[in-house]
Amino acid sequence: MTLFENYSLTGLNTLGFEATAERFSRPKTLPQLIELLALADTNGWPVLLLGGGSNLILSAWVPGLVIQLANSGIECVAQQGEQVIIEVAAAQGWHSLVEYTLEQGWFGLENMALIPGTVGAAPIQNIGAYGAELKDCFVSLTAWDREQQQRVTLERSQCDFGYRWSRFKGEDAGRFVIWSVRFALSTTAAPELSYGGVADYLARQGINEPAPQQVFSAICDIRSSKLPDPATVGNAGSFFENPIIPQSQYGALKAKFPALVAFADQPGLYKLAAGWLIDQAGWKGYNAGSVGVYDKQALVLVNLGGGDREQLLTLAADIQQSVRDKFGVALQIEPRQYPA
Ligand code: FAD
Ligand code: EPU
Repeated sequence: MTLFENYSLTGLNTLGFEATAERFSRPKTLPQLIELLALADTNGWPVLLLGGGSNLILSAWVPGLVIQLANSGIECVAQQGEQVIIEVAAAQGWHSLVEYTLEQGWFGLENMALIPGTVGAAPIQNIGAYGAELKDCFVSLTAWDREQQQRVTLERSQCDFGYRWSRFKGEDAGRFVIWSVRFALSTTAAPELSYGGVADYLARQGINEPAPQQVFSAICDIRSSKLPDPATVGNAGSFFENPIIPQSQYGALKAKFPALVAFADQPGLYKLAAGWLIDQAGWKGYNAGSVGVYDKQALVLVNLGGGDREQLLTLAADIQQSVRDKFGVALQIEPRQYPA
């Protein structure tokens, strides 16, 4: 296991920001990971766990130690009736896991096709798309607990999953290094088509009872039509969370803006489409030089070339201010800024 110094992270973050890690290493085994963490603790180095870098806003200089796990493997650990339990290494790419499970005839992940990043990062914000969330198929994870200095298994009920949320983003941020994740999938398909656009898209192709492979293809097509490919245009997906507001505030907004796009959430709460708010505030396609707002999805901020964290956060602050002025709604940034 090599410990690199002054290691370039420019190709390792999907915003494509120029960044250099003071130190960088890729452990393949748990003992290697433990050794690295011990070294960091002894020397007081801050540690960043890096997956695919698709939800990170990096500064040009990243001090301390950046660890990118390099373990591998997808194992079927149990099968009973229609249920299949798989255990997947944290460094496994998320989208290739979705493809692999479909090929095996194990269903449940297809609505989350094409989400960039790794399996190990997926529980951090409980990734979700098109009517599905990680927690729906999640069984448990194993992690190295940096506080207790031991390997732990955490069940779903211990992870505090919510919309773009888990305990790993809250008070336990940085405490657990996720090493593997278990999922419960099914050999029987149960297509989830409730999210706006998916059923219509399939119906236009004459498909009313889609097979999981057809749902997968539809999701890939829809996503590709709206979201920029990080290989071409630097981005971190949705830049802001969709705000959740009380029914009273929703009622007042809807009366003032009848076209407001919102979805009923928990009882008494509504989730607003932040993309619609930003679009209506006039930002879609905005070009600030090196950074801008994607012209097909206003919720996605992009690196137009040579952009950096400071420029992107300045644009984000301007967008937040204008949405607050027009709608009285606060937007929270979704990707993690590092260093904080
Ligand atoms: P990174 O960006 O590398 O890290 C994210 C966080 O996880 C960091 O805090 C990091 O320290 C931590 N982390 C990473 N690995 C570990 C580990 N093993 N143990 C502990 N902590 C770890 N997200 C959605 O939910 N739904 C979407 O539809 C979606 N679409 C996207 C589309 C595009 C084009 C892009 C660029 C992003 C999108 N995202 C979406 C966001 C992103 O893909 C997810 O958040 C993804 O889970 C990040 O994975 P990553 O491996 O790239 O994590
Ligand atoms: N809209 C506009 N203009 C825009 C963008 C959106 O009017 O420029 C409106 C449209 O009416 C559209 C609605 O907003 O119907 C919702 O848009 P979309 O279906 O694209 O979804 P989203 O709410 O913008 C969320 C997630 C995405 C996820 C999709 C699909 C968040 C923060 N984002 O986006 O996740 O892929 O739904 O489920 O919850 C990510 O987290 O990085 C991400 C891409």
